[in-house]
Amino acid sequence: MPRIRTPLAERLGLRYPIVCAPMFIISNQEMIVAAAEAGILGSMPSINHRSHAAFRESLAYIRRRTDRPFAINLTIKLTDPERLQQDFEACLEYRVPAVITSYGDPSEIARRAHEHGMAVLHDVIHLKHALKAQAAGADAIIGVAAGAGGHAGTTSPFVLYPYLRENLRVPVVAAGCIATGRQVAAALALGAELVYMGTRFIASTECGADERYKSLVVNGAPEDIAYTDGVSGVHANFLRQTLPGGAGDPADRGAAQAAVQRDGGKKWKDIWSAGQGVALAREVKPIAAIVDDVVREYAEAVRALPALED
Ligand SMILES: Cc1cc2nc3c(=O)[nH]c(=O)nc-3n(C[C@H](O)[C@H](O)[C@H](O)COP(=O)(O)O)c2cc1C
Repeated sequence: MPRIRTPLAERLGLRYPIVCAPMFIISNQEMIVAAAEAGILGSMPSINHRSHAAFRESLAYIRRRTDRPFAINLTIKLTDPERLQQDFEACLEYRVPAVITSYGDPSEIARRAHEHGMAVLHDVIHLKHALKAQAAGADAIIGVAAGAGGHAGTTSPFVLYPYLRENLRVPVVAAGCIATGRQVAAALALGAELVYMGTRFIASTECGADERYKSLVVNGAPEDIAYTDGVSGVHANFLRQTLPGGAGDPADRGAAQAAVQRDGGKKWKDIWSAGQGVALAREVKPIAAIVDDVVREYAEAVRALPALED
């Protein structure tokens, strides 16, 4: 199959400008290897491993299984500082090609990453934070639009990607609800150089999510997604059926918080996050097959665009 070239995909050594986005608890090293072999950028949060030693084992495993690029997500403020430092040092040691920083200031990580030739991608929901991350040395900014899985913004993707593109020097990565090749074409048309796909890859064979979670994703509709800050204090999108009380409007916030307080450590384990892209993720498949579908759909969408006529 032909490649889809963008400057950022070229720089990262990818066949297709797609990232299998990092997902707390459910992303794993198998997804990274499958994504790498399929020509896209796989990733996972380092803290998906219980210990630093387990994280190192995964890096060694990935290095044994593929020589293609991949990324590690460092969740700055959500990770114990000592653990963050250890995990980052391991990324340097294992020559991880890219780090994705989120939830904090990436300056120090970016400075050291660049000394080692590593790329740094940073995710934001507003231009204000994008400008800060650019100044801090991020090589690309991930704009997380309304409807995305995990902590999502509220800006429409129709505005967010071109707005970031017009106001940043560094390339933009489009995140939020992208599950098909048609949407990849749209995101590139809106000025992105890479697209981030999370929810679609929950429904992959390699993903560590519970089978019931995958089933909710492939059977989901946009109305099944609830946007609430009741779970973690930061607004995020969840599968409504898994929220305490079964809904997610502001009236349920108290119920969600009460349930989380009763069972603090389990909040992300039992309350499942996904974005509105559930509507377009219809089947659990291996990552390689999902990438094939997306590339074919992209080609069809581009071909079907009306040409300019006199
Ligand atoms: C279950 C779940 C967990 C997530 N955990 C993280 C995380 O640990 N770190 C992070 O930077 N983003 C996290 N995200 C956000 C994704 O990396 C990505 O921005 C999002 O999935 C893109 O939107 P989409 O799901 O609509 O494709 C998570 C998303 C989901 C669905």
